[in-house]
Amino acid sequence: MGEATRSSTTVIGMKIGIVGATGPAGSALAVRLASVGFDVVLGSRSIERSVEVLAKLLAKWPDRNLSITSSDNAGAADADLIVIATPWDAAWTTAKSVGSHLEGKVVMCMANALIRVGHEFQPLVPPRGSVAASVQAAVPGCFVVAALHHVPAKELADLGHPIESDVLVCSDHPTAKQTCMDLIDKMPDMRALDAGDLTQAAPIEAFTAVLLELNMRYKTRVAVKFTGINLDQ
Ligand SMILES: NC(=O)c1ccc[n+]([C@@H]2O[C@H](COP(=O)([O-])OP(=O)(O)OC[C@H]3O[C@@H](n4cnc5c(N)ncnc54)[C@H](OP(=O)(O)O)[C@@H]3O)[C@@H](O)[C@H]2O)c1
Repeated sequence: MGEATRSSTTVIGMKIGIVGATGPAGSALAVRLASVGFDVVLGSRSIERSVEVLAKLLAKWPDRNLSITSSDNAGAADADLIVIATPWDAAWTTAKSVGSHLEGKVVMCMANALIRVGHEFQPLVPPRGSVAASVQAAVPGCFVVAALHHVPAKELADLGHPIESDVLVCSDHPTAKQTCMDLIDKMPDMRALDAGDLTQAAPIEAFTAVLLELNMRYKTRVAVKFTGINLDQ
């Protein structure tokens, strides 16, 4: 299997398709990426829903000149780089349903396998250990990268403020991982960190349960920032 080849400069001009983009996470990522110059396609199981969400996003940010279009999930999967932003239990079936569009492309999975039981958030172990690994198994010919699990959608959607956050990125495909890190670094105050191979997606996804517990207990929305890593050295 060959690997998608991109370097830090070639993310500019990429079209990003988001599958499941009508939810808080996907729509937030769409506006944030569009705000830094990317063309974004909103995917949904229903074109009508995608059109409706796009109208709301553009109405909220009328002066931003956001380059976003609406489509179904297959239309979003026609883009250069695809983000999976569905609930965890729909991620690999949805990826498989548009699998022919994903072949040879970078697919960024931001889904977390979690369940809320009473007041508690519990991480789940999906088949193959993580949602991202399940997506990779469902579409072996794409290059899955796991990222953006810990970035709170509400803050991501607020273009009036940058999000100061580290973003853990892991993949078995180094070039695809670098592409996603370059993309993430384009968003102001977000810092992509190379967290290793796709095996790390399991603890990264599961850790989201801890963040949601913190959100609940401290009545806030936390983001993650690591000390001791100086990328300027
Ligand atoms: N919310 C956050 O702050 C946040 C932050 C980081 C990561 N995440 C992760 O990002 C993913 C999306 O989060 P979200 O809060 O935006 O989720 P969501 O609102 O529950 O779902 C997102 C979209 O997925 C589609 N969808 C729902 N059920 C589906 C199914 N059975 N099959 C196919 N598509 C389905 C829906 O779009 P259509 O009905 O239009 O198809 C929905 O609008 C989750 O896995 C979450 O763990 C969330």
